[in-house]
Amino acid sequence: MKEEKLKKINEEIKRCKRCDLWKLRNNAVPGEGPANAKIMIIGQAPGVQEDKIGRPFVGPAGKFLNYLLELAGLKREEIFITSPLKCLPQPPVNRKPKKVEIKACLPWLKNQVEIINPEILILLGEVAFSVFFPDRDLKEFRGELIKEKDKKFFVTYHPSAGLRFPKIRKILEADFKKLKNLFA
Ligand code: URA
Repeated sequence: MKEEKLKKINEEIKRCKRCDLWKLRNNAVPGEGPANAKIMIIGQAPGVQEDKIGRPFVGPAGKFLNYLLELAGLKREEIFITSPLKCLPQPPVNRKPKKVEIKACLPWLKNQVEIINPEILILLGEVAFSVFFPDRDLKEFRGELIKEKDKKFFVTYHPSAGLRFPKIRKILEADFKKLKNLFA
């Protein structure tokens, strides 16, 4: 039931033309993971590698995310991983998502969250944070568990920021180790 609903949405995402990003994409990236996942990870938008094969977090940021998940003692295959944007932002390739794109794409993510109904959402970076908490500042909540309605949110930086800035890398490592304790 859940699987079928999720599969149907993911098929629709692959054909989506709600914003202009479909014109240049090779593949939309709906996300992947079990329909009954207790944890969802929300990134920002697919990059070049993800666009090539249609799977989330398979490029350099994905490799770093895999390492962070190990620090947290979490198994990637038990998590549903996706992003607020399902297509590569371009041109130029890998630019920041535009507000209109986020707005157009967001119903897909909301649908996925509704179907999967995870216990905890791990929000990676500003874009993921702002779609759930538009009036709040990520810095205030980073590294903490936010309880909101029947859900928990854990907020941290995006792994690609950790690849660029050693200071952020350290914070990400500490945050994912903290996550391990939260699940212990
Ligand atoms: N960064 C994201 O936010 N999502 C991906 O799928 C890949 C990189």
